[in-house]
Amino acid sequence: MPKLRLGINIDHVATLRNARNRDAGAAPDIARAAQEAIKGGGDSITIHLREDRRHIMDTDVKNLRRVLKKPINLEMAATEAMKKIALTTKPHAVCLVPEKRAEVTTEGGLDVVKGGKKLARTVNELAAAGIRVSLFINPDAAQVLAAWTAGAAAVELHTGAYANSKGIAQKKELKRLQWAAQQAHKLGLEVHAGHGLNYDNVTAIAAIPEIIELNIGHFLVGEALFVGLAASVTKMRGIMVKARK
Ligand code: PXP
Repeated sequence: MPKLRLGINIDHVATLRNARNRDAGAAPDIARAAQEAIKGGGDSITIHLREDRRHIMDTDVKNLRRVLKKPINLEMAATEAMKKIALTTKPHAVCLVPEKRAEVTTEGGLDVVKGGKKLARTVNELAAAGIRVSLFINPDAAQVLAAWTAGAAAVELHTGAYANSKGIAQKKELKRLQWAAQQAHKLGLEVHAGHGLNYDNVTAIAAIPEIIELNIGHFLVGEALFVGLAASVTKMRGIMVKARK
């Protein structure tokens, strides 16, 4: 099986920092968190620059880009303003996500079918700047095909519905993810997955052979309160390696 990469989403370190002080460098320090996540076994750092800047700020993107040697995966809405930031800061990767201001977290996948030519133009402009573009989608055949048509290099399958369900319903969601991963892989897309993953539910997702990257945040940052960020990441990495065997 191909190696499974682990991207650590550190948005919620910024949530904690912003509760007191929005300055880059204020405690808890985002760059230090990123270094700890990498020390623990993370392959890349994922950050979501939301339009309302509720956690990651523009200064964080610039600072991380400057100090980090590992790849940065910038999650963002497909807007003109965000595209400009990506083209200026040039992260290794961009993951285009849907964004609603009132949502607590990214609630569903991007509607790539509806996004049509406009979305494809954004994908192509970012790709032309050397950025690997992935589209965060629900595990749905039409969305997978549309992502391929739009010229994306990768899809990130939204695992939220799987993570939030139990029993038979969860098995059904897992089947949808397995099937979508196969479809995307057959089209030549890189397959990633993420949202709501934790030590208990990650095994079945990590065992899907077509998936080569997971992006995990909220659970690992929460767990870090008890064991430290490097240790929480190392434990997740261990579970993923075991699932892959
Ligand atoms: N992938 C994407 C595209 C996301 O939007 C998020 C949440 O910001 C994650 C992964 C990580 O989800 P979680 O924080 O639930 O692990």
